[in-house]
Amino acid sequence: MIASQPPIRRGSPLAVRPRRLRLTKTIRRLVAEHKVAVDDLVEPLFVVSGRAVRDEIWSMPGVYRQSVDRIAEDAKAAANVGIPAVLLFGIPADKNEEATSLCDPKGPVQQAIAAIKAAAPDLLVIADLCACEYTSHGHCGLLNRDGKIDNDRSVELLARGALSYANCGVDIVAPSDMMDGRVGAIRRALDAAAFTHTGILSYAVKYASAFYGPFREAVDSAPQFGDRRTHQMDAPNAREAIKEALLDVAEGADMVMVKPALSYLDVLQRVKAAVQLPVAAYSVSGEYAMIKAAAARGWINEEQAADELLVSCKRAGADFIVTYFARAAAQRIANRR
Ligand code: PBG
Repeated sequence: MIASQPPIRRGSPLAVRPRRLRLTKTIRRLVAEHKVAVDDLVEPLFVVSGRAVRDEIWSMPGVYRQSVDRIAEDAKAAANVGIPAVLLFGIPADKNEEATSLCDPKGPVQQAIAAIKAAAPDLLVIADLCACEYTSHGHCGLLNRDGKIDNDRSVELLARGALSYANCGVDIVAPSDMMDGRVGAIRRALDAAAFTHTGILSYAVKYASAFYGPFREAVDSAPQFGDRRTHQMDAPNAREAIKEALLDVAEGADMVMVKPALSYLDVLQRVKAAVQLPVAAYSVSGEYAMIKAAAARGWINEEQAADELLVSCKRAGADFIVTYFARAAAQRIANRR
């Protein structure tokens, strides 16, 4: 009687149970496919002229415009939590049609490069290179007589700007203007002046995006007329991203960037598959502002949302991430156990 009874079955006959690998925090840690390390984070910094300036940018809470003295200290603090690189943006005292202050040897970016290299010699200093913060009209290039962007004249300006930054000891220049041929022109200008070790991180794939809104308020660079759609890429296009990235590789870029990150992770993945260089993701001001604003209203958990955003960049193939969450994320990573 007893022998003829079927054995008691506990659980169902499922052979494969994916949940086994999710049951505890420890096993999730063990099997995680992608991790964000402090080594992957680049922190943007905004530099203005003056002394002892530290103004919070209202559209980017927790991000500041700082004078050279303050920025050197802040960069050192970033280095102390292990952040390998900062990306510098300048807000000059004077803007004009020809963006002359871009090459001013005493400009805020030039001074900040030297001050940061002195304060934190191992921290990599990357300088964003674009005319839009320096032109009175807010366009990324110089205009010709009919008010259109003159590509080739703009490229000459960028090459001079790269030299100006290299003279101050910048490690890497990051052209973000999307003019044609600028990477090659910058490489030639740097090499001709014996700056063969100065690198180029190209914003190779930069879309015309509404997600730059808070940044433009930060540096007061919104175009006074028209928009950036004649040079920045059009959101529906992905194939074109490969063309842009390969061109920049051929022209001598050391690393390429895709920007923004969140709405373009598919593009990031394609670019990563197409090139043999480090690929960066730029999680832009609008991505930061959305999370900050929703968190301030209690609608979203800021830390979890930020971490999810950063790991999605890694999953898509980013080798490193430019993010306004860099410092906070680095501190969280350091505290995690
Ligand atoms: C151009 C530049 C922009 C950003 C980085 N470099 C603005 C633009 O193209 O309008 C945007 C960065 C951000 O939104 O976080 N110098």
